Amino acid sequence: MTTSSAPGKVYLFGEHAVVYGEPAVPCAIERRARVTVRERADDQLRVRANDLTLDGFTVTWGGEAADRPDVDVPTHLVEAAIGYVEGAIDQAMDAADVDEAGFDVVIESEIPLGAGLGSSAAVVVACIDAGTRELGVELPREEIADRAYRVEHAVQDGQASRADTYCSTMGGAVRVQGDDCRRLADVPNLPFVVGYDGGAGDTGQLVAGVRSLREEYDFAADTITSIGNIVRRGEEALRNDDLAEVGRLMDFNHGLLSALGVSGRSLDAMVWAAREADALGAKLTGAGGGGCVVALDRTEQTHTALQYTLGCEEAFRAELDDEGVRVEDDTEDLDGDMDDSA
Ligand code: MEV
Repeated sequence: MTTSSAPGKVYLFGEHAVVYGEPAVPCAIERRARVTVRERADDQLRVRANDLTLDGFTVTWGGEAADRPDVDVPTHLVEAAIGYVEGAIDQAMDAADVDEAGFDVVIESEIPLGAGLGSSAAVVVACIDAGTRELGVELPREEIADRAYRVEHAVQDGQASRADTYCSTMGGAVRVQGDDCRRLADVPNLPFVVGYDGGAGDTGQLVAGVRSLREEYDFAADTITSIGNIVRRGEEALRNDDLAEVGRLMDFNHGLLSALGVSGRSLDAMVWAAREADALGAKLTGAGGGGCVVALDRTEQTHTALQYTLGCEEAFRAELDDEGVRVEDDTEDLDGDMDDSA
């Protein structure tokens, strides 16, 4: 039995545009998904998930069984979650050169599903790490990131960048442009505040929406290029330790994401609450539609303002996570979890 965990992330800059070859800067945050994997005697895959946004569900498949869980969350989220775990286990088996095996998998996540904090990437990365270790293989981080990307790419119908999976694997602030992925050195302390509206977006649908705008309107394509330019300026501001400029660029980035149709009423309300509380900058993070905003504020003002903002369900400070994926010592009590089946 092996447990690994991997962090979620916020996008300082560049989501959506990164899908079209522009750079992005996601930053890992200290909110983790923990995945415990235990090999079974048969070839079934049995998954139990506990997430902030789920009461928990168990699903078993393999052989004849293909149950769908009965839970009170949008079906697309649950189906995507199942696809991510199945894909991660396939990758672990492929990496370990194993043709047939069954597993019990327990997911405990502090990262809400589909809320722009990279929950799926964290689950996939931790699951590949735990799954391969369970099969006696330890993969280099680059390979975990690459295999996790392949899973996201398949589940999101070929519309995924390497940003989420690379960031969750490596930790820290990273720069991703196409296949070129690296950690950023000497990043200043980034005082992140996150606001969460309790909702979720459908990443596949949101990415598809941006794609059709980009195909229909030159100015939408130009907007994506402009986001890339913001990212390049943002990197320069990071190098110069200029957080005021980083914040201004985040505001600009949010405006352009909004123009691309991926913001929403509660995300905008949280962004405005942060701005009115004198945050250095604020923007939605991730695919959008619903979920989270990220602001920069050294003071407590934004955190407090978000707590009183209509539509904001939770506000918290997020520290940069430097570690990325890691193996955990205190392995889950998997028997108890698995007995409590839905
Ligand atoms: C989703 O977290 C980020 C997007 O840019 C999609 C991707 O990069 O795969 C919207």
